[in-house]
Amino acid sequence: MQDRILPPAKAVQNTHCTAQDYAALHARSLSDPDGFWADQARRIDWDRFPTRIAGWSYDPVDISWFEDGILNLCFNCVDRHLPSRADQVAILWEGDEPGVARTLTYAGLYAEVVRMANCLKELGATKGDRVTLYMPMIPEAAVAMLACARIGAVHSVVFGGFSPDALRGRIDDCASRFVITADGGMRGGKLVPLKANVDEALEGSAVQSVIVVRHCGNAVAMSEGRDHWYDTLGATVPDTCPCEPMNAEDPLFILYTSGSTGKPKGVLHTTGGYAVWTATTFHYVFDYRDGEIFWCTADVGWVTGHSYVVYGPLANGATTLMYEGVPNYPDCSRNWDMVERHKVDIFYTAPTAIRALMREGAAPVKKHDRSSLRLLGTVGEPINPEAWRWYYETVGDSRCPVVDTWWQTETGGIMITTLPGAHAMKPGSAGLPFFGIAPELVDAGGNVLEGAASGNLCIARSWPGQMRTVYGDHERFVQTYFTAYRGKYFTGDGCRRDEDGYYWITGRVDDVLNVSGHRLGTAEVESALVLHPKVAEAAVVGYPHDIKGQGIYCYVTLIAGEEASEALETELKQLVRHEIGPIATPDLLHFTPALPKTRSGKIMRRILRKIAENEFATLGDTSTLADPGLVDSLIEGRRNT
Ligand code: WTA
Repeated sequence: MQDRILPPAKAVQNTHCTAQDYAALHARSLSDPDGFWADQARRIDWDRFPTRIAGWSYDPVDISWFEDGILNLCFNCVDRHLPSRADQVAILWEGDEPGVARTLTYAGLYAEVVRMANCLKELGATKGDRVTLYMPMIPEAAVAMLACARIGAVHSVVFGGFSPDALRGRIDDCASRFVITADGGMRGGKLVPLKANVDEALEGSAVQSVIVVRHCGNAVAMSEGRDHWYDTLGATVPDTCPCEPMNAEDPLFILYTSGSTGKPKGVLHTTGGYAVWTATTFHYVFDYRDGEIFWCTADVGWVTGHSYVVYGPLANGATTLMYEGVPNYPDCSRNWDMVERHKVDIFYTAPTAIRALMREGAAPVKKHDRSSLRLLGTVGEPINPEAWRWYYETVGDSRCPVVDTWWQTETGGIMITTLPGAHAMKPGSAGLPFFGIAPELVDAGGNVLEGAASGNLCIARSWPGQMRTVYGDHERFVQTYFTAYRGKYFTGDGCRRDEDGYYWITGRVDDVLNVSGHRLGTAEVESALVLHPKVAEAAVVGYPHDIKGQGIYCYVTLIAGEEASEALETELKQLVRHEIGPIATPDLLHFTPALPKTRSGKIMRRILRKIAENEFATLGDTSTLADPGLVDSLIEGRRNT
């Protein structure tokens, strides 16, 4: 296998950053962070340019950037482009059915954002209010986010695939009084009844107003006084709306993400640092040039959708493509069909999608003209070299650089990646630290490892896009990220650094699963399983899955007298789907009379993980188990799943 791959020289002419530039910029970003980030901050229009740049400490934990700056991110994504780009397409949208398309120019986007912002104001939303969005992938999702940013409201986008229960939990946690949704959304030819889900989630809740965007035309119930059609409400509002001046550290959004314990946490991002981080990473990593069509396939319900469908592209005056549906509808050539029809220049997707499409062979790719493509990207999970090569060779015709971007909901934007034109690529490695990023590999004892090494990935210094707190629970923020290794941000990922300084993410080292690029806490799935009256205990682990990266493996013990059955298995899978959403559906259920525990009663997850991974030979020490004989029966059970 070729270890280092350089794209053809023609493909990386005049990139924003050469190898020399990278070396100089990265060095300066660490030696003179204030100077470096003050320069990058000029990508943004400020009402008051900050005089204080980096202001953070990891011990005690207190993070701020551009502290005395004043800006509005909606202004930066919309209004400021009007003089030069009013007629340029800002959002290019394609619906679930091929060819159903809509475009919003920057002028059109401005009009819609102002309308939505005035609807929110009309209903009484003001600066600091939390607004929950539960939307399909339609332009109004981006419009609603920008409208919140415009009036200083804090959006909390909940992925449209989450269940009513999951939605309710997220609405309650941040005490949202406003919800924006649609009648429904379409995915792969199927209707997702968003409004009906909202109705279920809101039973007995304090939510005061719901704005409903008419999209699918499906019948919905409207609750008098609470629910408002967007088209009706928006028809009579004023057509201007000032941008609220925001302090750089005023909250921009909350986004819930899974951790290793407890309920999902509300990751809070603030305005100035996030703006600079997403604008800067978008510019360099995707090497974006004016006029190009950028397509990030993520849903706006995930951080990738926030940073690289909406804020990063629009802050750069780009044309961002939004797609409502799924990659295999009506067939598995859909992505390439859209690349051809919309002449997409930059395509950014998840390894799980690449693996699924790779399975279908080259023909569906080759039948479409992909000559518009200039750059490819991946995000969300490690990419296996085989899938990387297929992406590079078959999709990109060995012509387009591939950026494998490592980052997290918590980091706001891309942290580790190669830069096109600056670096050779290594299939399977995310690459090198972005500007301002100082990764450290740390062993279990907290020692920082030098040179080529494997360890837990920490980041030694703050960067502008870093989350600031867990909404409503700062102690949890400190506990989760800054106590394992004092004075460092701990990512939760394991990682290897090679002799060239490239980083190879090996996956989570905590109880977080990464299923098809989506984060899920094992504890969340366990809590759902034990809701069933027949279930006594459950332990959930990940195991390698060809397409999804990780599959969900559930060990379940039943209360005395209950029998395992296929019907029960189906019921349990349904229960998890109902509680969390389809993405959390268990792949394998393993009924066992008991779970392996230490004598003090602690479940030995290490053993459960190994068994799920079919790694029977490396179970390690089982002598501390209360019932060592259980291991054989678990292995036997695994063989039968
Ligand atoms: C994983 C998604 C390897 C990692 C932006 C991280 C990756 C988690 C990569 C964050 C990558 C993300 N290579 N692993 N390029 N990108 N991950 O919060 O385990 O949904 O901690 O953010 O995804 O997932 P999240």
